[in-house]
Amino acid sequence: MSALRGQSAIVTGAAQGLGYAIARAYVEAGMRVAMLDVKADALQQAARALGDAAVPFVVDLADGAATQRAAQAALAVVGTPRVMVHNAAILINRPLMQITLADWTREVNVILQAAFLLTQAVWEPMIAAGGGSLVYVSSRSGIEGFLDESPYVAGKHALEGFMKCMALEGAPHRIAAVTVTPGKPMHTPMSEYNYPAELKKQWIDPYLLTPAFVRLAGEEALALSGQRLNAWEMGRA
Ligand SMILES: NC(=O)c1ccc[n+]([C@@H]2O[C@H](COP(=O)([O-])OP(=O)(O)OC[C@H]3O[C@@H](n4cnc5c(N)ncnc54)[C@H](O)[C@@H]3O)[C@@H](O)[C@H]2O)c1
Repeated sequence: MSALRGQSAIVTGAAQGLGYAIARAYVEAGMRVAMLDVKADALQQAARALGDAAVPFVVDLADGAATQRAAQAALAVVGTPRVMVHNAAILINRPLMQITLADWTREVNVILQAAFLLTQAVWEPMIAAGGGSLVYVSSRSGIEGFLDESPYVAGKHALEGFMKCMALEGAPHRIAAVTVTPGKPMHTPMSEYNYPAELKKQWIDPYLLTPAFVRLAGEEALALSGQRLNAWEMGRA
């Protein structure tokens, strides 16, 4: 963990839930963390709670140009990240015929387009720094279908494919790319509205999943590049 001290991270969707827990774990490991989120008030409050090492950047990751600007601003403030965790996502439960083009575009852009743009933004700085880790938060929806979740499921499946390509392109540069599925029901705002009562009985604090993300910020990620990982299982190994 000490190898991360003084290094930087970019974490999206960091105002709450799993993203906030990951940002907290990185700050505790001694890292500077750029926290990106669209919820301005919640983000400012979350960054304040983590102290000077956490820097908030308010951005709508569905907006491509805004995402590119926020990534450059984050790089300028925290420097080249050792790890970029793209965790932000939206899940709107809706059957096919109730999904508007705007819904579809927004949901898929936050998951997939933002992954592409953020990866592009950190790519050359990571190469210049001798490597880094790209961590994309996935879900069972990355490999299975779920009723009324088509944009989310399609976005997460695509994210798995994007990760595999980044692992291949990143290998010569010591850039690792992985997807991470939580592996346990988590108590987050997304789960508050999405989980059935039965699942709510089993949910855990997302902070318990963060040891995997701390490990993946380090060189260990290189040996795992190209894989879909389970945060809960990794934390117990
Ligand atoms: N909650 C679960 O049970 C579960 C299960 C599997 C995978 N996941 C994945 O874990 C990750 C975190 O989920 P969570 O439960 O903490 O979700 P959450 O909804 O509690 O938090 C997601 C964060 O992303 C931010 N976000 C959403 N749209 C954004 C946008 N346009 N621009 C910037 N930020 C935006 C939100 O403001 C929020 O802070 C997501 O990728 C999700 O798909 C969650």
